[in-house]
Amino acid sequence: MSASRGVVVAIDGPAGTGKSTVSRGLATELGARYLDTGAMYRLVTLAVLRAGADPADPAAVAAVDTPITVGDDPNDSRAYLAGEDVSAEIRGDAVTRAVSAVSAVPAVRERLVAMQRALAHRPGGVVVEGRDIGTVVLPDADLKIFLTASAEIRARRRNDQNVTGGLGDDYEGVLADVRRRDDLDSTRATSPLRAAEDAVVVDTGEMTQAEVIAHLRGLAERCSEAVR
Ligand code: DC
Repeated sequence: MSASRGVVVAIDGPAGTGKSTVSRGLATELGARYLDTGAMYRLVTLAVLRAGADPADPAAVAAVDTPITVGDDPNDSRAYLAGEDVSAEIRGDAVTRAVSAVSAVPAVRERLVAMQRALAHRPGGVVVEGRDIGTVVLPDADLKIFLTASAEIRARRRNDQNVTGGLGDDYEGVLADVRRRDDLDSTRATSPLRAAEDAVVVDTGEMTQAEVIAHLRGLAERCSEAVR
């Protein structure tokens, strides 16, 4: 890394660790770009659903090739499918239910990993958030973070968000969904969710998001000083 290039940070971990808020906050504080790779898998999933393809049929999924676009501004998370702003729709239930199956298709991963590398290698610092960033997408990242928290804590956080957002109170259902997604994401053949050997593992269970951001900022600043 050179000082002019800026620091490249990979942030991985399961859903419910506060990963997105922390990644955006860190990118903002570092004056870096931000890449949400989960949004890219969600965009492809929406394209699959709109094409009427079966998410469980890898050949049908691989054949869907709708152009996707994500921005790299941490304060503007809009995402586009063939030019249409679908930022809200990719967070909906239909996409969330199908995204694990679609993201397990090797052809989808190959296409998105190539896009992610091209976006990450543009000039300037960048925080890249996902599941396989430190292990597969950017094995040479300057700093690799793996965020964790127990399934119960992650389910509690998600359920609290649902209650606040008027989506109902169902802790047991949310916990079952968290466990199902963990299992699918960590046992799939292509790029299973795991920490890179050289990742710093941060358990966010007992920390506020502000504390996590401050901790990661310290690590990123030390890392950019060390290589300057
Ligand atoms: O972070 P998220 O919930 O928006 O991610 C959506 C899905 O995409 C999730 O099931 C895991 C998958 N994903 C992945 O397989 N690899 C990534 N780099 C990012 C997300």
